Amino acid sequence: EKGNYRHYMQKEIFEQPIVVAQTLQTYVRPFEGEVALPDADLDLAKVDRVTIVACGTSFYAGLVAKYWIEQFARVPVDIDVASEFRYRQPVLEPGGLALFISQSGETADTLAALRHARDEQQRIAVVVNVPTSSMAREADLLLPTHAGPEIGVASTKAFTCQLAVLAALAANLARAKGRLSREEEIDIVAHLQEAPAALNAALGHDDDIAAMAYLIAPARDVLYLGRGPDYPMALEGALKLKEISYIHAEGYAAGEMKHGPIALIDEAVPVIVIAPSGPLFEKTVSNMQEVRARGGKIVLISDAKGIAEAGEGCMATIEMPEVHPLIAPLVYAVPVQLLAYHVAVLKGTDVDQPRNLAKSVTVE
Ligand code: M6R
Repeated sequence: EKGNYRHYMQKEIFEQPIVVAQTLQTYVRPFEGEVALPDADLDLAKVDRVTIVACGTSFYAGLVAKYWIEQFARVPVDIDVASEFRYRQPVLEPGGLALFISQSGETADTLAALRHARDEQQRIAVVVNVPTSSMAREADLLLPTHAGPEIGVASTKAFTCQLAVLAALAANLARAKGRLSREEEIDIVAHLQEAPAALNAALGHDDDIAAMAYLIAPARDVLYLGRGPDYPMALEGALKLKEISYIHAEGYAAGEMKHGPIALIDEAVPVIVIAPSGPLFEKTVSNMQEVRARGGKIVLISDAKGIAEAGEGCMATIEMPEVHPLIAPLVYAVPVQLLAYHVAVLKGTDVDQPRNLAKSVTVE
């Protein structure tokens, strides 16, 4: 039931602190300072290559996982959307790990890709929200998200739970490969444990976001920029806005702007910049200045420190709590979800059942 919420999507956005905490219970042992995985007949120490396959929002969770797995475990990761993966004749060395990410566990393209990978002698890991789904049944390593039923067609809480599981998977793989020191593991667990409170703090800015949504609602096109593990949040923000508000939006790697899309910039195209303070902040901000120099209207999503440093001259700013870069993708998912939600409400669209879309895409 929706309770006091106007839409399922809104309710599911606000459930994130609780369901992420619930999900993390399976994957971290806070008192021991250890990451953990469910039991499975699979030796992660032997994994030399990971292939990630998913669709839509679940694919964006996979993109973040690529950054984490390569950074922590130093294992090469290949990633593709399921509908491309199946038909491009991917080279899969026997014994590789193929990782499928899906809320429903029934997406036809992802399921077909899973079966293809199994035929190619890959071990199968599945991050899935519906424990009784086809993908869950066919996994060697089943990594459930505990988001609870997701009703809104736009995926929100399943996504942040996927990210929590994938961060823990990356750390587990790193440990199995002997590439994670005890101190690093303790740190990762501590940062993951900070995620629920940080998500709560992010949700605390709901009113501010509702109040600035009118700046975006009249736009015909919107651009989202991000860098590193926050680049997929730009893609996710753009997808959320497209899906439920029907405004054309694109996400770009901030550094890629100058290679073409900057030609689109004028005062009618709002640019949402996702830039938590941290190692990539200065670079992203310099891309933002390139946009501003061409008359672009900017919404900067950052923390107090980032906004103090770069907020001047922006059309609007959205303040997030200051968080460790590891959990920034989870936290920065919230403002892009809320922005899409409030813009859609202003436009009067059917938020939970957007036109032309189904919750589970069971055709290839
Ligand atoms: O159930 P799945 O995670 O496999 O679904 C994949 C996509 O269809 C899904 O994420 C879709 O892009 C959502 N509508 C995004 O909000």
